Amino acid sequence: MQLVIDNICKDFTNRKGQSLPVLENISLTVREQEFIAIVGPSGCGKSTLLNLTAGLLEPSSGKISFTDVRPGYQPHMSIVFQETGLFPWRSVYDNVAFGLEAKNVPADEKKQRVQKYIELVGLKGFESAYPHQLSGGMRQRAGIARAMSIEPDLLLMDEPFSALDAQTRTIMQEELVTLWEKTRLTTLYVTHNIQEAVMLADRIVLLSRRPGRISQIITVDVPRAERSLPQHTEAIAGFTRTIWEHISKDARAALMEVENNE
Ligand SMILES: Nc1ncnc2c1ncn2[C@@H]1O[C@H](COP(=O)(O)OP(=O)(O)OP(=O)(O)O)[C@@H](O)[C@H]1O
Ligand SMILES: [Mg+2]
Repeated sequence: MQLVIDNICKDFTNRKGQSLPVLENISLTVREQEFIAIVGPSGCGKSTLLNLTAGLLEPSSGKISFTDVRPGYQPHMSIVFQETGLFPWRSVYDNVAFGLEAKNVPADEKKQRVQKYIELVGLKGFESAYPHQLSGGMRQRAGIARAMSIEPDLLLMDEPFSALDAQTRTIMQEELVTLWEKTRLTTLYVTHNIQEAVMLADRIVLLSRRPGRISQIITVDVPRAERSLPQHTEAIAGFTRTIWEHISKDARAALMEVENNE
């Protein structure tokens, strides 16, 4: 299965009734088992692109489709947001089970899958804990387990670690690398964080300042599991530098910009 984003444009209407172009001519093919990071300055339309892909928004023009799927098959997608959106009244176990219940997965398989993903994200022993009893990192793990447990054709993640402190974030990044190597779910991952993108992605899509256009696509050709090894430090720093050089001007401008849609 491939995700094909074909010449997408998206305009919003602001409060004054003016049309605000947010995404312009976005074309991208995401291959099966590929991890794509989308990086760009604040307000350039990253979340909008993810929401369009999830079908939560309609494009103004262009088309998003899946190729290589059997006729009539509706690909499954999961989305992880910055805030996990766990149900506070459900335990970790029941939160992870939620997506499987919605899909009517038989009881035995449900139990086995919930346990598998709780274990994979390192929450074994916390099955009966409630979200308020967990740290931010643990809540995010539960959210990721919930998203992965349905074994989606496409995993969408919108800055899932940005609310975490720096150390937890680094740990979660490393764990996501390990987890992803085990699951190899086709993933579209939005982040502000260049270093995070370089550690996680096969390809990094750079978006320009609003209206977001693809300004460059960078292939990180160092095996994911080896990216933190000393022999690759220079190569990894090189990617980080290239990306920063590419987007710093836009990022500064976005920072200074008075949002004209307000
Ligand atoms: N429903 C909406 N109606 C009107 N304008 C919107 C709507 N959703 C987003 N926008 C505007 O579209 C632009 C892009 O928003 P989006 O949330 O996609 O950016 P982003 O790249 O995810 O930003 P950030 O990095 O801050 O999360 C912003 O200017 C935002 O104000
Ligand atoms: Mg966003």
